[in-house]
Amino acid sequence: MSEHDLVLVVDFGAQYAQLIARRVREARVYSEIVPHTMPIAEMLARKPAAIILSGGPSSVYADGAPGIDPAVFGSGVPVFGMCYGFQLMAQGLGGAVSPTGAREYGRTPVKVDRGGTLLADLPADHSVWMSHGDSVIAAPPGFDVLASTRVTPVAAFEDTDRRLAGVQWHPEVLHTEHGQQVLEHFLHQIAGCRPTWTMVNIVDEQVDRIRAQIGDGRAICALSGGVDSAVAAAIVQRAIGDRLTCVYVDHGMMRAGETEQVRRDFEAVFDTLDVVDAGDQFLGALEGIHDPEEKRKIIGREFIRTFEAAEARVFGGVAGGETAYLVQGTLYPDVVESGGGAGTSNIKSHHNVGGLPDDLRFELVEPLRTLFKDEVRLVGEQLGLPPTMVWRQPFPGPGLGIRIIGEVTRERLDILRAADLIAREELTAAGLDREIWQFPVVLLADVRSVGVQGDGRTYGHPVVLRPVTSEDAMTADWARLPFDLLETISTRITNEVAEVNRVTLDITSKPPGTIEWE
Ligand code: XMP
Repeated sequence: MSEHDLVLVVDFGAQYAQLIARRVREARVYSEIVPHTMPIAEMLARKPAAIILSGGPSSVYADGAPGIDPAVFGSGVPVFGMCYGFQLMAQGLGGAVSPTGAREYGRTPVKVDRGGTLLADLPADHSVWMSHGDSVIAAPPGFDVLASTRVTPVAAFEDTDRRLAGVQWHPEVLHTEHGQQVLEHFLHQIAGCRPTWTMVNIVDEQVDRIRAQIGDGRAICALSGGVDSAVAAAIVQRAIGDRLTCVYVDHGMMRAGETEQVRRDFEAVFDTLDVVDAGDQFLGALEGIHDPEEKRKIIGREFIRTFEAAEARVFGGVAGGETAYLVQGTLYPDVVESGGGAGTSNIKSHHNVGGLPDDLRFELVEPLRTLFKDEVRLVGEQLGLPPTMVWRQPFPGPGLGIRIIGEVTRERLDILRAADLIAREELTAAGLDREIWQFPVVLLADVRSVGVQGDGRTYGHPVVLRPVTSEDAMTADWARLPFDLLETISTRITNEVAEVNRVTLDITSKPPGTIEWE
């Protein structure tokens, strides 16, 4: 990444680091997250253009509170401290932090006493998001105090000569007014980072990198219909053209019209698309199965079988000793959450399918390893992928199979498809697609309830609407859809889907409920 300035976000373990790293990238500067346990020498060896100390869990006085070697402040690298990082900075540079007992949580009015560089042009009074018990009561020598709150005399400071600055609040959260502006003042004005991280550059660099990795080789990519695999494949195709084969496995549990849509969209974009119609195979294997974990295992197993057969078709003709490349849409959060290590780029030839030489090695190609989901969507747009592909809501690999509670059968899939299509159509008609992270419709196939329709008694199935809002699917909230919209969906489903006589709404957040029902 030497083409770009690098900002290291030091993670003190309170889940703010990913958000900060995203905001830095929104300021068009490349950022990576490192653990606070990384020795300073190792951080400096990465030649960062700036270091950001994130918020953290605790008081700097708590037993076992994570610290940072104060050498970082004398290294000449610009440092920005936020919240806990701000207090570490005050403490490490000779200021004073005190457990005043006056806590501030949530939205807090802040007073800008002098803007300096960090808070230049900000309104004198505005609201920020706070989460702290201790307060900085004296800034370190050489620092200008820029802002205060009712209980915190030193809420922001800077020393532009040494290129050090900090704020007590969380500029990265949306509830903080002018947060992005403050971050950009630090990055661009104080630290002098160059704003080169743009989607055009990312695509060009990845294309060069993939050409270097794959050379004259051939690659295969399993498309799920989702945005990650589509964008990963589109970048690789730009690099190696028709030496990439994309495989889309239709397992028979997609939503109404989805396979046709995927085929249309993908055929317009990808030179070699192999659509495998494996519905009979999957549904046969799922006969009589009720347990959710068992369903997932069976779907996973059948998927691998189908994909291996596709690999054998693609790589069957290659000589032993060659490398086969497997494209995957791994994202940066997956990399961070799995320990952030370099990752193994060689996977063993467990794909030992009949027809492939024993010593064929598989190597992973992961063009999205440094990207966040919102960046992947921007890259997708940059590559000219259709909006239906780029803005598609997440959909689980096992498809409707895990949205039918009970055995998966063709009849039940048809019922769920019809109900799901109505929910999707109405959500789109209400213009709410981008507000809603995901909108599963779940069929309680083993449950029946009594209803009355027309003059007759019915004994049909309930469906559950599960619209959620989320930023990353790790946590989610039930979406407050307008009552009118819910009413239209309910009326249409009970009128148009004969087997369904009751529509219910899931109002559980995650946690404790997961997004999917199985
Ligand atoms: P949960 O239900 O765990 O889902 O809150 C979190 C996100 O993951 C998706 N999901 C899956 N995706 N294979 C997938 O590819 C799966 O088995 C699977 N299970 C859940 C889910 O749709 C949501 O976006």
